[in-house]
Amino acid sequence: MSQSYQGLEAEWHDLFWEAEEAANELPLIEEFLESIGGPSLYVGSGSGRLLGPLVLEGLEVSGLESSAEMVALSRKRWPEAKVVEGAWKDEEGEWSAILVPGFTFQLFENPRLELLRMASRVGKGGRAYLSLFFPWAELTGELPPVKWYSDREIELPDGQRGELWTKHVVIERKSLLKREHSYRLKGEDGTVIREEKTKQTIRFFVDAELERLFKKTGWKVSKEIFDFGEHDGDTVYVTTLFLERS
Ligand SMILES: C[S@@+](CC[C@H](N)C(=O)[O-])C[C@H]1O[C@@H](n2cnc3c(N)ncnc32)[C@H](O)[C@@H]1O
Repeated sequence: MSQSYQGLEAEWHDLFWEAEEAANELPLIEEFLESIGGPSLYVGSGSGRLLGPLVLEGLEVSGLESSAEMVALSRKRWPEAKVVEGAWKDEEGEWSAILVPGFTFQLFENPRLELLRMASRVGKGGRAYLSLFFPWAELTGELPPVKWYSDREIELPDGQRGELWTKHVVIERKSLLKREHSYRLKGEDGTVIREEKTKQTIRFFVDAELERLFKKTGWKVSKEIFDFGEHDGDTVYVTTLFLERS
């Protein structure tokens, strides 16, 4: 089952990213693409937040996105960027590289199958780019399980507020994080005008498991970057991997 973004989750996606002040993944994708001589496919290109700037720089990359709403946002904001509406499992093109940034890989049900699919779409000498996050806050209990907590808030352009509430459970033996989200649109007086709930299952990976998966599916790691190049301290939250066919 594809975990496509719809409704307020799609509409507010970029606003939440902007409010987050998170480190920017764009320079890493640029670095990766610089060494690729041929067309690349960006899987789960979403609103075009990262795809748009890459295309404007003249990099040879196009998008694939399963949510019609995200595709519409992308085409409106970044008309220069080509995006195909469709699911990764139905993709049949041949590419020099496949990019799966923004944690989309963790939404896939069967990572081994998807790595094999990626290998078959790039052929010999092909490359891939992945970014994966590790849910330390959920695993350590820093974020409380089975309980709604306020995750993010944004001020909307019309003075209303957007709130994201989250509840999660971790199934450690299966390396799964199950999240429920409640997107709440609030009026200026604080009343809830609209609420939309979504569910997401995210797979997380320990190093040994990733190593095993890459080996079995014909990939090797050519570069690893931690926390988008801003790693500080012991805990790594995000790992970005440049892969090549072994
Ligand atoms: C976590 S968001 C990341 C969006 C974008 N990469 C970014 O960083 O802004 C995941 C995106 O992948 C899309 N998606 C999920 N499963 C997909 C699939 N199987 N094929 C294509 N797109 C998919 C969702 O609709 C959503 O837009």
